[in-house]
Amino acid sequence: MSTFSQSPSNDQNSLEARLQIDYLLDLKAIEKDDVQDVISGLNVDGVQSPKSLPARYFYDTKGSQLFEEICQLPEYYPTRTEASILKQYATEIVNQTQAIELIELGSGSSTKTRFLLDAYQSLDTTLYYTPVDVSSSILKASAYNLLADYPRLKIQGKIATYSQALQQLQTSFLGKRTIIFLGSSIGNFEPLECDRFIAQITNSLNPGDYFLLGIDLQKPVTILEAAYNDTQGITAAFNLNMLQHLNERFQGNFNLELFKHQAIYNQTKNQIEMYLISQQTQSVTLESLDLTIKLAQREVILTEISRKFNIEQMQQYLGDRNLNLIQSYTDSQQWFGLLLCQKTNL
Ligand code: AVJ
Repeated sequence: MSTFSQSPSNDQNSLEARLQIDYLLDLKAIEKDDVQDVISGLNVDGVQSPKSLPARYFYDTKGSQLFEEICQLPEYYPTRTEASILKQYATEIVNQTQAIELIELGSGSSTKTRFLLDAYQSLDTTLYYTPVDVSSSILKASAYNLLADYPRLKIQGKIATYSQALQQLQTSFLGKRTIIFLGSSIGNFEPLECDRFIAQITNSLNPGDYFLLGIDLQKPVTILEAAYNDTQGITAAFNLNMLQHLNERFQGNFNLELFKHQAIYNQTKNQIEMYLISQQTQSVTLESLDLTIKLAQREVILTEISRKFNIEQMQQYLGDRNLNLIQSYTDSQQWFGLLLCQKTNL
């Protein structure tokens, strides 16, 4: 008897049928870049100062867990502030954009995205959601959760770098498209990297398509520094974990007890700078790279910048790059901004 039609949301096959995941990572190329960045960042030939390490080394399994904890900290206001703005304006954003294709760069657990997905559900179209993340485990787990909760959603995930995903997206338009980039992750790019990134965004949109960008806003130094120097020491553990990650990855012997975490706000560059500070003269070896690094007492390693913006300047910057501000959304304290932009008709 086939009179009982199965509820699609209970059918394991229909979850699969609504899911497609592309794996674009080139592990050999990544390995090469990783090694190169560690070697040049740690400044073995003594040209570059200060020493630095790429922020992507934060995110091993432990680091990703610590980041989730950071997002819950009382001092770390960005996550909850951005979530509250999204919650309040999701319907308005969705009514404006009407996209059939929603692309999220650095989707992670897609938690904040749910406010938008809730709003899209009331539209009468199928939504194609394209989460992009370098972590296949996080991407797959969150994709299954979303498919179970949103019965009409289709997911076309990409396990890829932003750049790989945007390149591929330049040639595959399903229809009206919205790209979202939340969490003020744009603040982790140096200005030149930011220029390249925005150029790739513009190239992946047709005129009339949308870009939704979350930015952390300039505010008193005490609030900013507290957000990156929390009293529970979670951010310190997150920062120090990068050394543990390097130890595991490259057979290193960083002693985490000989480094201290510190985040300072650079008021000239309008950015938080996260440092690991060597507590004594020491040398560290990364055996598999055949690399020995000398550190002086109080010498610093820069592990992350987190730029803080102002809405008018960002509006100007994006406008100059063919992304016109349609609407900006913020919270009552103006601590965080969500900018909805539309690609111009050239
Ligand atoms: C979400 C990556 C933008 O810069 O605020 C949080 C990362 N670093 N605490 C940020 C982070 C230290 C975060 N991003």
